[in-house]
Amino acid sequence: MLRVNDVVTFTAESYSNRETVGTVDGYTVFVPFLLTGERARVRINYVKKNVAYADVTEILLSSPQRALPHCEFFGKCGGCSLSHMSYAEQLRFKQNKVALNLSKIGGLDVDVLPCVPSPSVWGYRNKISLPVRGKRGAVKVGMFERDSHKIVDVRRCALCGEWAQTLVSLFAEYCNMCGIEPYDERSFAGCVRHLTARYEEDQLLVTVVSNGEFTGDLRPLQQSLARRFERFGLFVNVNTARNNVILGEKSRHVCGLEYIEGEHLGVKFRLSPDSFFQVNDGVKDLIYAKARQLLDLSSTEIFADCFSGVGLLTNVLASERFETYAIEIEPSSVADAKAMAVLNGTPRLTNVCGDVTKELPKIVAANHGKKMTVLVDPPRKGLNVEICNALKEASPNCIVYVSCDSATLARDLATLSDAYSAVYVEPYDMFPQTDQVETLVLLNRSEQN
Ligand SMILES: C[S@@+](CC[C@H](N)C(=O)[O-])C[C@H]1O[C@@H](n2cnc3c(N)ncnc32)[C@H](O)[C@@H]1O
Repeated sequence: MLRVNDVVTFTAESYSNRETVGTVDGYTVFVPFLLTGERARVRINYVKKNVAYADVTEILLSSPQRALPHCEFFGKCGGCSLSHMSYAEQLRFKQNKVALNLSKIGGLDVDVLPCVPSPSVWGYRNKISLPVRGKRGAVKVGMFERDSHKIVDVRRCALCGEWAQTLVSLFAEYCNMCGIEPYDERSFAGCVRHLTARYEEDQLLVTVVSNGEFTGDLRPLQQSLARRFERFGLFVNVNTARNNVILGEKSRHVCGLEYIEGEHLGVKFRLSPDSFFQVNDGVKDLIYAKARQLLDLSSTEIFADCFSGVGLLTNVLASERFETYAIEIEPSSVADAKAMAVLNGTPRLTNVCGDVTKELPKIVAANHGKKMTVLVDPPRKGLNVEICNALKEASPNCIVYVSCDSATLARDLATLSDAYSAVYVEPYDMFPQTDQVETLVLLNRSEQN
């Protein structure tokens, strides 16, 4: 019988969602930071019925795919969970994760292609959202520890470029110098909750998330930003909610740029600080190019891009040959999407600000009898039954589903499986070094429907 604190020998037989899995004395044991095939001494930290969790105390047999994590915070910081694997092994892990979820959760028998690598495996993030904690004069800006709300003061996160390291250091210096009080999530007191920023095309947008109106002097921050960044904008977002949501509803522009402007894939875009934009530009472009290749828009009359964000992909796909509807709930993203349509002179595009659950059925009903094609790119929680029903009602020949959570993807594909089959499943490594994976799926309408 296994007990907490027992130290046992463990062999990693396969990968689960984040950890490896093996069997010890009839228990299924989950252990993080190992590779399949590795043997280790592990200390049991949790036991329930015939399942246990454990941490490695000593590796006895190491895999040739083991890599030396090059971040001093690896294992402690909750950001990266796969840096102990070679990049080839990370890609295999992700392909396996998607395949496992599709078969176990979705009950689907479908081939999963190899995971498409990211053009950059470090320094790829164009966005940061970092909690600010600690004490007045000793502010910590960093990442939460794994499965905890303790902060690791990661000033140099290798997932972001130098811009982020410069920004985090100068922001911590500013807080300490000006006596800005960080937020305390137990007492809900203090001022600064988060530092968020995005960096595209040498333009930086910085948002200080404040627990109530920000009353400190922002001029020293403005001055140090101006010394290090040629083109930047500064914002304050007010968030008094007692939960983990990062941004509140209200953002105030303080100085500098109001949005980022650029051009990707031949589409001019405008990007506000609160709008959604994929965090890894290289992989975003690969996914968009594949979506364009897979979606058969040749004879469509109506194209619906659901969960469209600022609409870069919508603009890549829109054409004067058919009506395009983009549905997005977040007003700031929709404002950017409308500006983008004007900048690009996009033909026959309607940007709808609303919930896909309500708006898609309306579009389907209004266009009854017309030939429709749909793309969905929902947040982690995936679709719901109403959306799946609207998709079946619209009965498009094909649907492209872009997913950032293969567990909810599997559930949704199972819900759609009486009318649609997944004929192409390709994972993309949007988030190297982490266990997260993006998946692109092409669904074709089944013959009997
Ligand atoms: C994963 S992002 C995809 C955005 C876009 N397709 C892209 O590639 O940039 C999901 C988007 O769905 C939006 N969203 C979340 N829930 C929604 C809902 N119920 N209805 C409409 N949009 C929603 C979010 O604001 C976010 O912009």
